[in-house]
Amino acid sequence: MYIESKLPQVGTTIFTVMSGLAAELGAINLGQGFPDFHMNQELVALVDKAMKDGFNQYAPMQGYMPLRISIAEKIKFLYNTSVSPDKQITITPGGTYAIYTALTTVLCPGDEVIVFEPAYDSYIPNIEVNGAIPVLIDLKFPEYKIDWNEVRKKITKKTRMIMLNSPHNPTGAVLSEEDIHELRSVVKGTNIFILSDEVYEHLIFDHIPHLSMLRYPDLMERSFVCFSFGKVYNCTGWKLGYCVSSAEHMKEFRKIHQFNCFSCHTPSQVALATFLQHKDSYLSLAPFMQERRDYFKSLMAETLFEPIPSHGSYFQVYRYGRISNEKDADFAIRITREYGVAAIPVSVFYKSGKDDKVVRFCFSKKKETLEQAVERLRKISV
Ligand SMILES: Cc1ncc(COP(=O)(O)O)c(C=O)c1O
Repeated sequence: MYIESKLPQVGTTIFTVMSGLAAELGAINLGQGFPDFHMNQELVALVDKAMKDGFNQYAPMQGYMPLRISIAEKIKFLYNTSVSPDKQITITPGGTYAIYTALTTVLCPGDEVIVFEPAYDSYIPNIEVNGAIPVLIDLKFPEYKIDWNEVRKKITKKTRMIMLNSPHNPTGAVLSEEDIHELRSVVKGTNIFILSDEVYEHLIFDHIPHLSMLRYPDLMERSFVCFSFGKVYNCTGWKLGYCVSSAEHMKEFRKIHQFNCFSCHTPSQVALATFLQHKDSYLSLAPFMQERRDYFKSLMAETLFEPIPSHGSYFQVYRYGRISNEKDADFAIRITREYGVAAIPVSVFYKSGKDDKVVRFCFSKKKETLEQAVERLRKISV
């Protein structure tokens, strides 16, 4: 019995490896992106209530309608765009699944997809499993900005999609008005789709507005925009999210979705339909998390690590050149073993393994966790 691997290059993801190592060694895990504090207990109570009220059978394939209505209202409130809850929103088991489904909906073998690196680890395998070709462009180091001239050079007749992620994992970089202007000029008159990964929509700091594709009707009509409730409500383990697109494109998205997971966890959808109406529950996330970023950075100022500005997400990347010249993966493994703090080497977000000697820390943790971690990181010397 033999399986011709569809993803022969792929092993276990670094997040699994580093979290495994952190668990094995009892290290503080600032590697994988998840909060170590409790989620909102009111939302938990609403799920409990939904279960007790009998919402325990299959939800509709497109998602629980009251939740889709709440999402459409939120989009109108935040981005002043009207979307049809019936035709343009589908609830998915997480943002990663929404991204995979959108790629599978659009891509045919041989299609090219522009991917900016460093890139979230699922993008390239998701493209390749569809027989399509990732066309890789490095974000300009160290600001991690998009080089639009490079994008223009890499566009061919086969370019089918551009993937965007703002706020960006792993770097916390965010799209600017100028990026939107460039994006518009690049895609105008083409049949290039946009996959916009906006799972960190509410994790954007320094009073910078989130430039969602949902704001721009001309971009929206060619976009699949993917979101994650896990990131908004500090419950990454729920694996619940949604995708928004034009009605025509959503029809095709749902054809893939309905024969994959079909529908998502019902009680959580019922609870979120109500909870989403509390604007404060998502508007308070940015100041809450920004405080954590600032606290972490202020503690880290006493170490030899050098930050590269992060304006969003759960993450802050640091150069460690003042400490060591090791490869970033070796460095990350060594500090986990020797100092008991796990981080993610940024080279794993490049297909080529490009190593700028930078590691990513997750600051979405309790203050005590950050304090304990930095106490250990302070001991690292040259
Ligand atoms: C950039 C990015 N996209 C998507 C996801 C996945 O979201 P979910 O957990 O809802 O699948 C993550 C999670 O880490 C992420 O960082």
